[in-house]
Amino acid sequence: MWLHAHVGFWTLAFILFIASYFFQRAGQSTVQKVLHMILRLDFILVIITGIRLVSFYYIGHQYVWATVKGLFGLLLIVMMELILTRGNKNKGTGVLWTILLIAIVIVFYIGYFVLG
Ligand code: HEM
Repeated sequence: MWLHAHVGFWTLAFILFIASYFFQRAGQSTVQKVLHMILRLDFILVIITGIRLVSFYYIGHQYVWATVKGLFGLLLIVMMELILTRGNKNKGTGVLWTILLIAIVIVFYIGYFVLG
């Protein structure tokens, strides 16, 4: 149940992030702001469900990979947030996108192949 919720919330986060990014590029700032607000609420849900999942691994004493996965998940969220806030100020986001893509690969690798 927690895992399904987690997957649903981060899927929604990716959709909202991409939509928010394109509305920002298109100069549609009102729509972008609303989507960004909903995205922030969704980030909280991703984090709450993620922490709950990590806690199951602590109960089972196999917490190393779950903790690493959680930290890269948090890094991913921070990068999405920074890309949108820096984009609003028209600042460069190249490094942030690079970190985001690396974090996605690591998060999916640990999520599906290490923790399964
Ligand atoms: C946007 C951010 C995130 C993405 C894209 C993401 C992605 C994933 C993926 C792909 C899985 C594997 C799902 C499956 O096995 O069906 C997963 C599971 C997991 N996630 Fe996240 N996650 C994110 C944030 C977080 C955060 C912030 C935490 C912890 C604070 C976290 C903790 C976990 C844990 C512990 C699992 C393992 C569950 C299990 O297989 O038993 N995740 N996540």
